[in-house]
Amino acid sequence: MIPDASTSISPASGLHIRPFAPEHLADAVRLSRQVGWPHRQQDWAMALAISEGVVALNNRRVVGTACCTRFGDVALLNMIIVDEAMRGHGLGRRLIAAAMDLAPGAEMRLVATTDGLPLYEKLGFHAKYRIVQHQGIARTATARVPVREGPVQDVTGLVRMDHAASGLDREALLDRIAAQGDVLLADRGFAMVRDFGRGQVIGPVVARDAATARALIAEAVRRNAGAFLRIDLPEGAGLSDDVAALGLSCVGGGTAMVRDPGPSPSGDFTTFALVSQALG
Ligand SMILES: CC(C)(COP(=O)(O)OP(=O)(O)OC[C@H]1O[C@@H](n2cnc3c(N)ncnc32)[C@H](O)[C@@H]1OP(=O)(O)O)[C@@H](O)C(=O)NCCC(=O)NCCS
Repeated sequence: MIPDASTSISPASGLHIRPFAPEHLADAVRLSRQVGWPHRQQDWAMALAISEGVVALNNRRVVGTACCTRFGDVALLNMIIVDEAMRGHGLGRRLIAAAMDLAPGAEMRLVATTDGLPLYEKLGFHAKYRIVQHQGIARTATARVPVREGPVQDVTGLVRMDHAASGLDREALLDRIAAQGDVLLADRGFAMVRDFGRGQVIGPVVARDAATARALIAEAVRRNAGAFLRIDLPEGAGLSDDVAALGLSCVGGGTAMVRDPGPSPSGDFTTFALVSQALG
């Protein structure tokens, strides 16, 4: 059972849970830096623009965050952080409960860190597969399948492929990424590349087959040779070795988890790289 997410979590200590607002972004960046995540304020702002969230305030200082991003019938829980000085007192559980209340009835997904996994299991989430995070200075590469560059005025076709792969209805997100980043197109898939954290991120990569996904990634790497690149891969999609050979080493990862799963995606397309661990 999910605990009560009442707005005042501990009046005696002055802790309150409140809606996440733009005025909390600078503190949120401080928290994510504390746990070693690379998010810049722009990255938090982008996530918040398409999400709702909550913060825990201790005398107006943000000491915890949790966001909920709804993509159609599926909600992604993300950016769950408790200030290290406040951990182990039930605040993480309260924040997650409040974030889950933002999407009643939805299938819930998240990518768990080692810290978060025990808590999510207690809340009824089940591990589905591993995500592997690769990053580094990109080497040059050659695409073996033709890849062309957008621009894409209308992302409807890409949204359809993405939905077939993930079950997520991410038009607003893909629209934003297409407006600020690069879109690479192949006959059987697409990829996006955008500024994020320490450099650029390749993702999503959605394709009918691994050969197309490899070509899309190779082209993204070729364009950014010598620069810092990151890519987050579902381990089972099988491109980890290919990406490592392009200079992007495996530096960690997480566990994709689900609670109250709905129907599986159609399977015509596969997600070979995530937008991010937060946004699926
Ligand atoms: C994960 C995190 C948010 C948990 O916050 P927290 O305030 O310490 O969690 P809580 O005190 O609410 O703990 C909730 C439950 O999970 C358990 N739990 C929390 N962290 C645990 C750990 N590392 N190992 C085992 N159990 C753990 C607690 O025992 C508790 O169980 P109970 O309610 O049955 O007693 C916090 O450790 C954190 O911010 N970590 C760094 C960022 C991160 O990894 N976030 C998760 C992203 S997916």
